[in-house]
Amino acid sequence: MTSTANRQILLIEKPVGKLAPQNFKQSDAAIPEPREGEVLLRVRYISLDAANRAWMHGATYRSAVEANTVMAGGGIAEVVSSRAQGFVPGDIVFADTGWQDYAALPAKHLTKMPRIEPLTYLLSVYGIAGLTAYFGLLDIGKPKTGETVVVSAAAGSVGSIVGQIARIKGCHVVGIAGGKDKCHWLTSELGFDAAVDYKDGAVFKALRAAAPKGIDVYFDNVGGEILEACLPQMNNYGRIACCGAISQYDGAPSATGPRGVPGLIVVKRLIMQGFIVMDYMKERERALADLQSWVASGQLKVQEDIIDGLENTPKALIGLLAGDNRGKRMVRV
Ligand SMILES: NC(=O)c1ccc[n+]([C@@H]2O[C@H](COP(=O)([O-])OP(=O)(O)OC[C@H]3O[C@@H](n4cnc5c(N)ncnc54)[C@H](OP(=O)(O)O)[C@@H]3O)[C@@H](O)[C@H]2O)c1
Repeated sequence: MTSTANRQILLIEKPVGKLAPQNFKQSDAAIPEPREGEVLLRVRYISLDAANRAWMHGATYRSAVEANTVMAGGGIAEVVSSRAQGFVPGDIVFADTGWQDYAALPAKHLTKMPRIEPLTYLLSVYGIAGLTAYFGLLDIGKPKTGETVVVSAAAGSVGSIVGQIARIKGCHVVGIAGGKDKCHWLTSELGFDAAVDYKDGAVFKALRAAAPKGIDVYFDNVGGEILEACLPQMNNYGRIACCGAISQYDGAPSATGPRGVPGLIVVKRLIMQGFIVMDYMKERERALADLQSWVASGQLKVQEDIIDGLENTPKALIGLLAGDNRGKRMVRV
């Protein structure tokens, strides 16, 4: 990185079909000057999230990302200079910095973070991933000891934490992930009771074998066919925490939804609820206290996938959508 230019990754066109490197371009801009009420940030780590791709489809819980703008994305950054009360150089913040070296942002859009080691935990276990897993599983899934919890995208950043928390709560935990290696990692390293390789086909049957007593809680990161395979195997009064729909993000969403909706939801008295982690931020301290104690005791393993270089950010997102990450992926800028 040079100290005079602000390297930026622009989304130059919205993808039609799968996201590709040519949808992005790197360019240099001047380092921005913060205005009154703003803070100049030096970005340290950029979070790579499946949702980055979903934002390209249109407005969701946030505004859409548009062509010819700096690609949006959350990051951990250090305050370089401040024209806002409450922030001084050296402070660490989480913000939607975008894919660039520097950003000047209004102080009201920043979340001050503690300076911990390693800093990357602020994006993984103590960041959006950990909090999403915690609140989605415990507040929506409400697992009880002895129940069966199934989680999809189980080797990803949110899923790998969901499964481990469910184990801590004494549940029988089944992860669904792509490939033998990931499945082996879930059971041998993270303590999942069983894992289903959805790329091997026959998900319904494999799930039946892995969850012989049926599913009480399904933490859904993917939607689509995997949701359809889980629905008939839900036990009466089961809960489905709808966290995301990765299978629909990269390319055109499927024309039909999963079969069994709403019939199976009625007959099995299921609760199926979506959530956005931002709605839980007032309760963040409760979650962090638990997550910190589980990490300290070794019950919760933190898996990070750190890629070096801002220039590699497009490739890192494209790879994540194809499943080449394990745990929380981020780019060190
Ligand atoms: N509701 C909220 O507030 C909230 C907050 C954060 C994240 N999320 C959601 O959490 C989920 C996880 O996101 P993340 O950013 O942490 O990504 P991630 O789980 O770290 O990575 C995405 C994983 O999805 C899997 N995948 C890709 N295409 C798939 C498909 N068609 N079917 C099944 N699995 C597929 C890949 O693993 P395989 O090798 O296993 O295919 C890939 O590694 C997403 O749905 C995201 O939108 C929601």
